[in-house]
Amino acid sequence: MKILRTRDEVKSFYKSLVDDKLSIGFVPTMGALHQGHLDLVSKAKESTDAVVVSIFVNPTQFNNKEDFDNYPKTLDNDLELLNNIGVHGVFIPDNQEVYANRPTLTLDFGPLERVLEGAFRPGHFNGVGIVVSKLLNIVKPHKAFFGQKDLQQVAVIKTLVRDLSFDVQIVVVPTVRDQDGLALSSRNLRLDSTNREKALILYKSLSFAKAELWKGRDWLEIRANVETEFSRLSDVNLEYFELVNAELMEPMDILRDDIPQSICVAAFVGEVRLIDNISVNH
Ligand code: PAJ
Repeated sequence: MKILRTRDEVKSFYKSLVDDKLSIGFVPTMGALHQGHLDLVSKAKESTDAVVVSIFVNPTQFNNKEDFDNYPKTLDNDLELLNNIGVHGVFIPDNQEVYANRPTLTLDFGPLERVLEGAFRPGHFNGVGIVVSKLLNIVKPHKAFFGQKDLQQVAVIKTLVRDLSFDVQIVVVPTVRDQDGLALSSRNLRLDSTNREKALILYKSLSFAKAELWKGRDWLEIRANVETEFSRLSDVNLEYFELVNAELMEPMDILRDDIPQSICVAAFVGEVRLIDNISVNH
């Protein structure tokens, strides 16, 4: 496993891979790796010859300084996990390597900016779009792998790739959960045992709402029910709970059978902001 720290190192590494006619799979991450990240790596290994993982806590996508400062960092453990699973390269650039020039370009993902994560985290998707564009241009993969856990991020990346004609195939990988249903997330490392327990309300509410929808219950009534459950827990603050078109992410209020729909949730559990989603009909 080759550790790559500069663009030049990635460039010569890329050349050696394509000289050997190897296809490249890419998994961008911000580190603090868990089984969710490793599932992306496994999927990449199944369908490409050489897998490159990046670890970079991208400052431009954090709209909250505390969240950035407290983002978990477990580099030694990350490298051990990647070494054990077997990847060809790990790109670990520093801030200077990625942002030698502060970008003057801003990306606007249109309607995606005005709902859910776009609305609650202004500038977040600009930061994601800029860094993913840079990483795709540096690594030049044939396929790039993203988790369904960040459903709106998938929509953003697909828009980016389509609108800017990136020559890469985007592969989406299902959400990996703990046994009790909590979606794995690097930020879970910041939950103490009390809040870890409270955090279960996200997945429980998603499952409950999906089941109620299928029973034919009215969405707005279901959501009101979920909001009441959240308000019962101290130190847990719901930001949104929405039924959406799973591709465009626009909120809807009825179950449809002609378009893929998901339910998306974001909530603060203590200081930690968590998101999750569940597909309802696809
Ligand atoms: P990060 O949160 O580290 O996630 C990296 C990738 O792992 C993303 O595609 C994310 O959707 C996926 N992932 C996270 N938790 C998962 C889970 N429980 N199951 C399946 N996949 C999961 O997402 C980012 O980093 C950044 O925004 C990034 C794309 C790297 C740009 O900076």
